[in-house]
Amino acid sequence: MNLWPGLLLGIESSCDETSAAILDGSQVRSLVIASQVEMHRRWGGVVPEAAARAHVEAILPTILDALSQAGAAPEQITAVAVTNRPGLVGALSVGVSAAKAWAWYRSVPLIGVHHLEGHVVSPYLDGGDPPTPHLCLIVSGGHTELVAVDGPGRYRLIGQTLDDAAGEAFDKSARLLGLGIPGGYAIQQAAAGGNPRAVPLPRGLAKDPMNFSFSGLKTAVMRQVELAGESLDVADMAASVQEAIVDSLTAKAIAALEETGSRCLTLVGGVAANLCLRQRLENECRKRGIEFHPAPLRYCTDNAAMIALAGSVRLQRCERDGFQLDAEANAPLPGAMIES
Ligand code: KG4
Ligand code: ZN
Repeated sequence: MNLWPGLLLGIESSCDETSAAILDGSQVRSLVIASQVEMHRRWGGVVPEAAARAHVEAILPTILDALSQAGAAPEQITAVAVTNRPGLVGALSVGVSAAKAWAWYRSVPLIGVHHLEGHVVSPYLDGGDPPTPHLCLIVSGGHTELVAVDGPGRYRLIGQTLDDAAGEAFDKSARLLGLGIPGGYAIQQAAAGGNPRAVPLPRGLAKDPMNFSFSGLKTAVMRQVELAGESLDVADMAASVQEAIVDSLTAKAIAALEETGSRCLTLVGGVAANLCLRQRLENECRKRGIEFHPAPLRYCTDNAAMIALAGSVRLQRCERDGFQLDAEANAPLPGAMIES
């Protein structure tokens, strides 16, 4: 990967984490994440207006903390990368405004980054080096996509969820089981000691090899919780939910690898932190002689290091954004780019 040679400031604020990172090549000099999870726990989910206000409070201290942990002075930062799409517009706007102000005041280049492109490059952080072309399974709170990565910045969408994302399925099931947020982690913890085959749950779209569906799972969990009433075994139920999601993601990823002939799989996004999913994909890939590169655990959930890295690649290709850069709620992963 051809990377921006100087120190780069990355900023992420698309949902409920305010994050800043200082990147030096592919080495993360510092990464600070101010999570709002405690605040949103009160409401059982992310409240967009509250998220935006919390970003306003956290953005400057987070950036200053990242600089100080990196031992970097502001004048040593030679470029700024910021998530500008997709996400909660109010939340995104906070990061975008901070990045624009920095770039203007310090007269350094600015680049807007697609949040999913940040996830896609996360396996390359800290010196990781998955070969291209490869297949990338993106599993987050808002997205579940299989993307063929033909080279840096060159993507093809192979499959996606037709309804809920995998992280959403974890989060909604966790809520039905009375577990906390973030739901995926809560289910993983509750599943320890449970029987993954205790409760039969649907694997959506079993006949469609490339696309996903998780809305039936949520309905089935709701029904099982009602049926069980007081006698609900939370560990068994959590283990069964995790098994259904992991099963479905693994089956589709393997089908897509076979269909595309790809010999390498990467796994990214918040749900990539799930240890059961990592283990299952690792085993299935090993059996088939396929390389498996999951994102390092600390870069699975939202963070500014991955945004800085995606920005670094684009800046090095002489891409720049002007001060008209804006936050966008919805935007597809940037399409094929011509290799220079
Ligand atoms: O990528 P991410 O931090 O934010 C989005 O871009 O959406 O992903 C958040 C999602 C949440 O749905 C959360 O429940 C899930 O990642 N998650 C997990 C785990 N840790 C976070 N899901 C399963 N197992 C985990 N250990
Ligand atoms: Zn994300």
